[in-house]
Amino acid sequence: MSTIEISITVNGKSYNESVEPRMTLVDFLRDKLALTGTHVGCEHGVCGACSILLDGTPIRSCLTLAVQANGHNVTTVEGLCDENGETGILQDAFRDAHAMQCGYCIPGMLIASEALLRDTPEPSLEDIKEAIGGNICRCTGYVQIVEAIQLAAERMREARQ
Ligand code: FES
Ligand code: FES
Repeated sequence: MSTIEISITVNGKSYNESVEPRMTLVDFLRDKLALTGTHVGCEHGVCGACSILLDGTPIRSCLTLAVQANGHNVTTVEGLCDENGETGILQDAFRDAHAMQCGYCIPGMLIASEALLRDTPEPSLEDIKEAIGGNICRCTGYVQIVEAIQLAAERMREARQ
């Protein structure tokens, strides 16, 4: 099959790669760039495990072709760490609030939470439910995930003072 050249920035690093036109963005991230933090669940836009930020907006990378990301900025869950690979307030809050069991949904939950807290520093319970409403967790019952996001919001506000 013919391939197409794409230029894409992922987690601040530029890549030029040839991809088949039908390759999804999640397969590109996982198979070409070895960024396996982005998970594949349903592969048809339902579960949210494959969520990434495209130019800052959370999207389903299973429903996006790699060629559609040409010329754009992508942030994956790996990109939420600092340059030394250290976790930040958001990931630490998920750990401290025991917000994960199997962990499969967590990359998508972190991406959704990152987008929420960037735009809404003091989210209401409804804001949080809305933000993660497209992300399915089979394990936790969501309570600890909501608590983790509230904890992260609180710590971020404290850090800004
Ligand atoms: S794998 Fe993309 S939404 Fe489920
Ligand atoms: S922690 Fe298992 S799916 Fe969410």
